[in-house]
Amino acid sequence: MRIDAYAKINLSLDVVDRREDGYHDLCMVMQTVSLTDTLNINARPDVGIEVLSNLSYLPKNESNLAAKAASVYQRSCGGDWDGLLIEIDKRIPVCSGMGGGSADAAAVLRCLNQCAQRPLPTDQLAQLGAEVGSDVPYCVMGGTALAEGLGERLTGLPPLPDCSIVLCKPAFSISTPELFGCMDIRKIRYRPDTGGILKALRQGDLKGVAQRMYNVFEDVITDYRGQEIQKIKSELLSCGALGASMSGTGPSVFGLFDDPDGAEAAVDRLKNHYQEVFLTVPVRQNQTASGSLDPD
Ligand code: C5P
Repeated sequence: MRIDAYAKINLSLDVVDRREDGYHDLCMVMQTVSLTDTLNINARPDVGIEVLSNLSYLPKNESNLAAKAASVYQRSCGGDWDGLLIEIDKRIPVCSGMGGGSADAAAVLRCLNQCAQRPLPTDQLAQLGAEVGSDVPYCVMGGTALAEGLGERLTGLPPLPDCSIVLCKPAFSISTPELFGCMDIRKIRYRPDTGGILKALRQGDLKGVAQRMYNVFEDVITDYRGQEIQKIKSELLSCGALGASMSGTGPSVFGLFDDPDGAEAAVDRLKNHYQEVFLTVPVRQNQTASGSLDPD
């Protein structure tokens, strides 16, 4: 079976509490975008799950979330296969804050569920995804959604109005544990206006969403990487973005545009300095739903 795995962006990311177990409760407005990996998933005679990819450095075993997802699904729901070959054509930048690994895992879950004799309903499949990774439940659901807790408490939201979304990933990476380690929730100075974003979504007000976006991690990255992130945001805004923010735990930055020409100008300008720049659009929940059986 061939299936697309969609990248996500965080229209907002707020850290609301530090839990007893050391993890943090989050409050995030998430959006699926039209940048995808493509997965080919086939049963094979050998026992075991193997992942192959156009990026040779990606793990081939269960430290790859796609393999972990297959194993979690088989353990909990069964499946009439002994072995699985998952081939991933990766286009979503790795370790970018765009949820590429979680998207691949969610695509595997959806694919195996579609082939199952008794498929789980989407909300149960999403909850199974929490055993694979924090962003996986949202990636199973897709579209525009509020994600709370570690990311497993999901509420569907009205879709983001049509727009162009420019994504830019600078060359450096940011470690998630390091970022959470630097986060002191008593010292958060700026937060996204999540309530305002929800209201703007209900009103179909793109500008209202864009002007209220923020990611609390932006204020924690104080070295050269923080400066670079702010530079990309400024570049997007100077090309006419209605708003710009970092996605997830970074370092990717995105801008929302109501003017497609402005978005194209931003892509051209950013490409002078960065290799990974993408022009995308929002994707609705029902567009992410299914894979297709290969003709062969
Ligand atoms: O989810 P992941 O394993 O990538 O998280 C890496 C680390 O980030 C965790 O071990 C934890 O220290 C921190 N984290 C957190 N709160 C979250 C997610 C991650 O504190 N909601």
